[in-house]
Amino acid sequence: MIVITGASGQLGRLVIEELLNRLPAAQIVAAVRDPAKAADLAARGVQVRAADYTKPETLDAAFKGADKLLLISSSEVGQRVAQHRNVIDAAKRAGVGVVAYTSILRADTSPLGLAAEHRETEALLKASGLPHVLLRNSWYTENYLASVPPALAHGVFIGSAGEGKISSAARADYAAAAAAVLVAPNQAGKVYELAGDEAYTLAELAAEITRQSGKTVVYQNLSEADFAAALQGVGLPAPLAVMLADSDIGASKGGLFSADHQLSHLIGRPTTPLGKLLKATLV
Ligand SMILES: NC(=O)c1ccc[n+]([C@@H]2O[C@H](COP(=O)([O-])OP(=O)(O)OC[C@H]3O[C@@H](n4cnc5c(N)ncnc54)[C@H](OP(=O)(O)O)[C@@H]3O)[C@@H](O)[C@H]2O)c1
Repeated sequence: MIVITGASGQLGRLVIEELLNRLPAAQIVAAVRDPAKAADLAARGVQVRAADYTKPETLDAAFKGADKLLLISSSEVGQRVAQHRNVIDAAKRAGVGVVAYTSILRADTSPLGLAAEHRETEALLKASGLPHVLLRNSWYTENYLASVPPALAHGVFIGSAGEGKISSAARADYAAAAAAVLVAPNQAGKVYELAGDEAYTLAELAAEITRQSGKTVVYQNLSEADFAAALQGVGLPAPLAVMLADSDIGASKGGLFSADHQLSHLIGRPTTPLGKLLKATLV
C-alpha cells in the first residue's frame, strides 16, 4: 500500500494519476486534509483518508498499513518543519517501509531561502532512522508561466534572476518521477536531483513569449527589493513576494540550474519543453 500526502494538491493529484496507471486503485491511499476534495478519487476506488499535518492523530490513522509513503512538502511555508516532523513521527509509529520526500534541488547547498525547511526536514528523516529517498525537485515551469498574462499586458517580464539559468520541469514530470520511485524496489538511501532537460534565463523566457504570442515582451531585471515591492504592488502577500524575490536571487546564483538529466533518465522520456507548456498557457 502506497500513501500519498497532499494528494488534493496539484502535484499530489498528478502522482495519483501516475500510480493509477501502474497499480490497482485499492493499493493507493490519498491522504488529504479535506476528504471532500478527493471525492472523485474515492469514486475511482482510491482509499481516501483524512490527514492533517498539524493533527498527529489523523496521521496515525492515515498511515496504517502503509508500505511506502510519499510526503509531499506542505504548502504552508514557515510551518513546514513542525508539520513534516509530525508526518515523520507518525510514519515511524506506523512502521512505514520507506518514505519518499519532495525536497528542493541540491537542498544541502542551495542558495534559496526556501531550502532551509527542506534541509531541516531531510535532517529529521535522517535522525528518524526511517528508510527514505529524497526527490530534490527544481522549479516547476508553471511557477513562471503564472506571470505570462501580466507580462503580455505590460510588455515586460520582471524578475531578479539575472543571467541565472533555470532548469525547470513540468509538475507532471516530477509526478512521473515520484511514481517511478514509489513503485521501484530498493530506493531507500537514494537522493535524486531532479530538474528539466532544458535551461533558460528569464530573458530567454521573455523572448519565447514574444515568439509565440507575436507581442513583444522584454525581460527587466530588478533588484531583490524592487522585485519584492513590485510583487506586493500587484497584491501578493509580503511573505510570498519576499520568498519569490529571494528565489530569483537564488536562481541568479545557479540554484535552479542542473545539467545532469536525472529526471528524464528516471521517467524514461525527455522532460516537458518550456515551449510546449507556454503554448498551452497562451491558448
Ligand atoms: N518545486 C517548485 O517549484 C515548487 C513550487 C511550489 C510549491 N512547491 C512545493 O511542492 C509542494 C507540492 O506542490 P503543489 O503544486 O502540489 O502545491 P499545492 O497545489 O499548493 O498543494 C499543496 C498540498 O499541501 C496540502 N497541505 C497544506 N497544508 C496541509 C496540512 N496542514 N495538512 C495536510 N495537507 C496540507 C494541501 O492541502 P489542501 O488541498 O487541503 O490545501 C495541498 O494538498 C508544495 O506544497 C510546496 O511545498 C514546490
